[in-house]
Amino acid sequence: VLGAKSNLVIANKVIAPDGFNRSTVLAGGTFPGPIIKATKGASFSINVINQLTDSTMHKTTSVHFHGIYQNGTNYADGVSFVTQCPVAANDTFTHNFNVPNQAGTFWYHSHLSSQTCDGLRGPLIIYDQNDPHAKLYDVDDESTILTLADWYHLPAPVLNTILGVKPNTTLINGRGRYYGGPMTDLSVVNVEQGKRYRFRLISMACDPLYTFSIDGHSLTVIEADGVSTEPLQVDSIDILAGQRYSFVLTANQPIANYWIRSLPNTPRATFAGGLNSAILRYKGAPAAEPATIQAISVAPLVESSLHTLIDPGAPGKPVLGAADINIHLRVDVLNGIFSVNNVSFIPPPIPVLLQILSGARIATEFLPTGSVYVLEPNKVVEVTVEGSEFGPHPIHLHGHDFDVIRSGGSNVTNFVNPVRRDVVSTGLLGESVTFRFVTNNAGPWFLHCHIEWHLEAGFAVVMAEDPSGAQSHIGSASESWEQLCPKYNSLTPP
Ligand code: C2O
Repeated sequence: VLGAKSNLVIANKVIAPDGFNRSTVLAGGTFPGPIIKATKGASFSINVINQLTDSTMHKTTSVHFHGIYQNGTNYADGVSFVTQCPVAANDTFTHNFNVPNQAGTFWYHSHLSSQTCDGLRGPLIIYDQNDPHAKLYDVDDESTILTLADWYHLPAPVLNTILGVKPNTTLINGRGRYYGGPMTDLSVVNVEQGKRYRFRLISMACDPLYTFSIDGHSLTVIEADGVSTEPLQVDSIDILAGQRYSFVLTANQPIANYWIRSLPNTPRATFAGGLNSAILRYKGAPAAEPATIQAISVAPLVESSLHTLIDPGAPGKPVLGAADINIHLRVDVLNGIFSVNNVSFIPPPIPVLLQILSGARIATEFLPTGSVYVLEPNKVVEVTVEGSEFGPHPIHLHGHDFDVIRSGGSNVTNFVNPVRRDVVSTGLLGESVTFRFVTNNAGPWFLHCHIEWHLEAGFAVVMAEDPSGAQSHIGSASESWEQLCPKYNSLTPP
């Protein structure tokens, strides 16, 4: 466990979380990386120290704190080629930022190419001393963090060249089994009969959508992506790459072991032999694997039934298409290359934030041409993203939560109390999702598919919000052009 002011060492290590040895890129030497833990209102200073040496993978890196607004500190967002240059081997980069009014379940991961799939992923939890749901649970600590991850036996730079790549293993809290592999120990989550637990479920997936459930127990969802929701009782949760949920589980079943299941959509999972699973163990139960059978989900989580608890309601006129700025993103895929409105995102030679520092202000002045959308401050923006093949796609916007006024594949709009979150499904080919946010946070913010292979294949755009504002923030901070991009030292700073 790390605090808000910590060193985060990024280094290579051979590990075998599923019994198969491979070289990895890890934060803090473990998978998942150490929990970064803070309380609401904390000031963060995370010093990323790059000690990577293995040239079968990327030796540069950058670390993104997923879901954190970075209000006034866009330069700490950690996105290679958008807010900074990659951090070179043997170099460091310090992320200084404040989180005055967010609390909940977040995570951090590499934002260089698909390096996150090589291991650089970890939880970031901001605890709220005045949590509005505090009365609903007894336990909320490190033992109730549940991380879901796909795991691969090949390095990401190789996987990036393979169309339709499939993960080998599902890891829950860093352990799992693969088909045909050894019977490794699974993760065990310990509970005591009669207590109520707040579980924090984080999908650190590079790709799959997981259907998550715990045999014999219902789950009361109280948070989505760092935003408290009205409690909603379900018995399974579909969770896309990058999404998080908190749910309350009451340990009200007979003392025994129960399967925790995380079934991926790719490849369609079976559960035999303890694949895609972990164990919920009641105190007093034998140290054995469960004997339960698959529970049938009668009440899966439906996103449109989730409602924001505090200050609900989408900004702007409650009419589709009636925002100040309406953006429609059409998604196509051809021969494994994705494009958004006919442009495939290619990382620019100079990060977008540094282009702003050099004076870029209007869309046509930015690289990559056609991928940067300039937004004026204090406007209501409505974005519709189409589904495509190889979906559903998890769409993530940096720097904001958004109100999902129409969920992926749904025709029902909700402007009154929609869920507010930071990753949402597009739905499938022929479907689309619509969400709104207000441009109250200056900076270039990445908007992309959180399936790493799709991001790498061009499924991304940049929302350059109030470029002048972003430049003035950096002017008043200790960060400089040289810190963001040491290799451009020789270029004329702005
Ligand atoms: Cu989870 Cu662009 O990030």
